[in-house]
Amino acid sequence: MNLILHVWRQPGPAARGRMVRYEANDISPDMSFLEMLDVVNERLMETGEVPIAFDHDCREGICGSCSLMIDGVAHGPNRGTATCQLHMRSFEDGDEIHVEPWRSRGFPIMKDLVVSRAALDRIIAAGGYISAPTGSAVDGNATLIPKEAVDTAMDAAQCIGCGACVAACPNGSASLFTAAKITHLGLLPQGQPERLSRARRMVEQMDIEGFGGCTLYGECQEACPKLISIDTITRMNRDYLRAAVAPARATVAESD
Ligand code: SF4
Ligand code: FES
Repeated sequence: MNLILHVWRQPGPAARGRMVRYEANDISPDMSFLEMLDVVNERLMETGEVPIAFDHDCREGICGSCSLMIDGVAHGPNRGTATCQLHMRSFEDGDEIHVEPWRSRGFPIMKDLVVSRAALDRIIAAGGYISAPTGSAVDGNATLIPKEAVDTAMDAAQCIGCGACVAACPNGSASLFTAAKITHLGLLPQGQPERLSRARRMVEQMDIEGFGGCTLYGECQEACPKLISIDTITRMNRDYLRAAVAPARATVAESD
């Protein structure tokens, strides 16, 4: 395949950026999008040019590092697919492809296609954990959990923290990410004691970081590579309101 790339190049956080045109020739349709960028970078380095900076790690859809806006769509054209699992056969020979970083006030650009997603880490640090000492792993059948609660919690636990939901949201909201973490922990018995205070602290941190509010556009769940549902946001809002109305109340029913 022969492709034309238009890639956002920005030498540093305070530098001025611009789209730069590159020809990507002799690309195998079986390459992943990141492997295609590797090839482009090798050719750039052969000619003494600075390679394109982009984030990546596992390259198998589990770490959440990859983060490219491809033709204006977070993670590209295939639904439920992280950038690292997007293959060039999803494009046509001769295509012109625009590649940009996540664009959101909460994600400052560090270089080229790399943004800082430290704000998501700070939301986790505000409450996305269980503080009680739980000891070693207990027998799997010792704590019975309703199947519906397990399934919903595990669906939410698939969030890889990539930030595509933020990048896709017209409000720049981190609600889907935050709600996924709150749902994942809040529905399991181990997460019940801190459920409401966790929701309050994580939502407050989300606001402190400058992310926008959710007005239910639904773009987040369309962009999410793990197909996290915006139903999680309903649960987050409910827990947050309960925390505001009855801050002393420690627990709520597991199936709520
Ligand atoms: S909710 Fe989806 S899009 Fe948002 S950070 Fe988690 S995996 Fe990425
Ligand atoms: S590089 Fe790990 S999810 Fe894409």
